[in-house]
Amino acid sequence: MSFDHIIDRRGSNCTKWDMMSAPSIGVPAEDGLAMWIADMDFAAPDFLQEATQGLLDKANYGYFIGEDPLKDKIANWMQTRHGWTVDPAAMFSTYGLGNGIGICLQALTQPEDEVIIFTPVYHEFTVKVKKSGRTLKESPLVIRDGVYHMDLAALEASMTGREKLMIFCSPHNPAGRIWTPEEMRALAAFCARHDLILLSDDIHHDLIYPGETYVPMPVAAPEVLDRLVMLTSASKTFNIAGSRLGTISIPDENLRARFGKLFRALDISPNLLGVVLTGAAYSDRGAAWLDDLRPYLAENSRVFLDGMAQIPGVTPMPMQSTYLTWVDFTNTGMEMSEVIRRVRQDARIAPSVGAEFGTGGESFLRFNIGTPRARVTEAVERLQQAFSDLQ
Ligand SMILES: Cc1ncc(COP(=O)(O)O)c(C=O)c1O
Repeated sequence: MSFDHIIDRRGSNCTKWDMMSAPSIGVPAEDGLAMWIADMDFAAPDFLQEATQGLLDKANYGYFIGEDPLKDKIANWMQTRHGWTVDPAAMFSTYGLGNGIGICLQALTQPEDEVIIFTPVYHEFTVKVKKSGRTLKESPLVIRDGVYHMDLAALEASMTGREKLMIFCSPHNPAGRIWTPEEMRALAAFCARHDLILLSDDIHHDLIYPGETYVPMPVAAPEVLDRLVMLTSASKTFNIAGSRLGTISIPDENLRARFGKLFRALDISPNLLGVVLTGAAYSDRGAAWLDDLRPYLAENSRVFLDGMAQIPGVTPMPMQSTYLTWVDFTNTGMEMSEVIRRVRQDARIAPSVGAEFGTGGESFLRFNIGTPRARVTEAVERLQQAFSDLQ
């Protein structure tokens, strides 16, 4: 299947394409370009279609077994793709990772506890912390050499002892920064010093550009295993977020027991489609498809970032992974309300608004380039046109 093939997702109850014309966003359905919520516009690959067909052929949607073989497949994928040895017995299947984060917050922290996140970051971290009634503590990332760095010295100076858990995004959403093993070890040491539980959300672990190296936290810093919760999923990699399956792996027995108690009380188990699709994805055919996808996304990123960099005052952040570009409009000198108006109304594009990603995101927009190349090119042309007066 060619990633260039365009499918029309409009009218399919698709959040990304069918909600951009809502009054709060206001991008026309007819010729708008949806570049916000994080899924891709490619048709599902044949191995997923065949797996779904297999499910249909059985004409049986009752209770099912098969979660243990799935966990073995997940463990095998993590071992072969990422060099991470994970025990299937340490895994829990949640209703996606947003759900997993919510359970972690309830199970592993108390209402009076504070939770650290590195902003700007995936906006749902903030939402989940607030909804769970915990207090959010932002540690703003700093831009050095054009990319984000954690400022652990500043965070250290602000610690009060109320902080109990940290959510880390690896690779980082937005902009796809891949943290180095040295940075991860420094973070692990920080968590040990302050007795913090470390949630490493690695949902974007497979969308690594050719030539780049991603190392999961337990490989980079095995010393953190006694306080580590790993969040992984096939959902971003294979574009199966609608099947709602995430994996929470907790190597430490005591921590696992705390999580497991609430998990069992809530009676959470995966749904049939999620198990079928993730099982089909974590296969040799899935690996081959992914290895075609990665250079395609890298080239989409290059096309988009190069095109945006041609607009005076617009600064796209370099990327190492993901399809979530991050573009700074500070030097246009415009109010963000005007930038957003031009992008939505003049270019007819729906991006994600940077302010939602927390402190440091205010002057940015996030554009999702997980779409056929022709749409990326079209987006660049529309955006260059919408800001042509800056030339
Ligand atoms: C870092 C991160 N975590 C979690 C999620 C959501 O995961 P799920 O759809 O499994 O709830 C996303 C979606 O964009 C994400 O970027």
